[in-house]
Amino acid sequence: MGSKLQKLWPPQSAHAAFDKAAHYFGMKIVWVPLNKMMQVDVWAMRRAISRNTVVLVCSTPQFPHGVIDPVPEVAKLAVKYKIPLHVDACLGGFLIVFMEKAGYPLDQPFDFRVKGVTSISADTHKYGYARKGSSLVLYSDKKYRSYQFFVDPDWQGGIYASPTMVGSRPAGLP
Ligand SMILES: Cc1ncc(COP(=O)(O)O)c(C=O)c1O
Repeated sequence: MGSKLQKLWPPQSAHAAFDKAAHYFGMKIVWVPLNKMMQVDVWAMRRAISRNTVVLVCSTPQFPHGVIDPVPEVAKLAVKYKIPLHVDACLGGFLIVFMEKAGYPLDQPFDFRVKGVTSISADTHKYGYARKGSSLVLYSDKKYRSYQFFVDPDWQGGIYASPTMVGSRPAGLP
């Protein structure tokens, strides 16, 4: 991370947290327009992809309008252009997985059943009813998870290893 060339590709409706991440990591963020249904315009996303694109983003659902992006269609782009696809299920992760059981099946799958989806976030602190401050990120493959860790083996205090941006975390979290 860190190169100015790396670009992040979320729909305009994606959470401001992507802006924050781009700011932290010195990445350029390219917001992709929505269609009339307030879903990401897949054609516009395809046109926006360049050789500097490092991740595509979909939300299930996005926060502003509660609309689910067309994950399978974006996943086809991810596979074709060999770009990771992150599905932000922070809001819906603990709701939409139960839609089928509740008798309201979704039109399209959004999870790792869809080839091309490489990571999914789901907030335990929302409809998982855990305390604020906890969340999950799931990876389709260990190779993506390895980038999450920071390890300093040469520190005078011993080996320092941390899986998240915060080192010290609140003890009350699950
Ligand atoms: C859809 C969605 N994505 C991402 C986030 C980011 O959460 P945080 O800023 O707490 O990491 C939220 C939080 O409200 C969200 O609702």
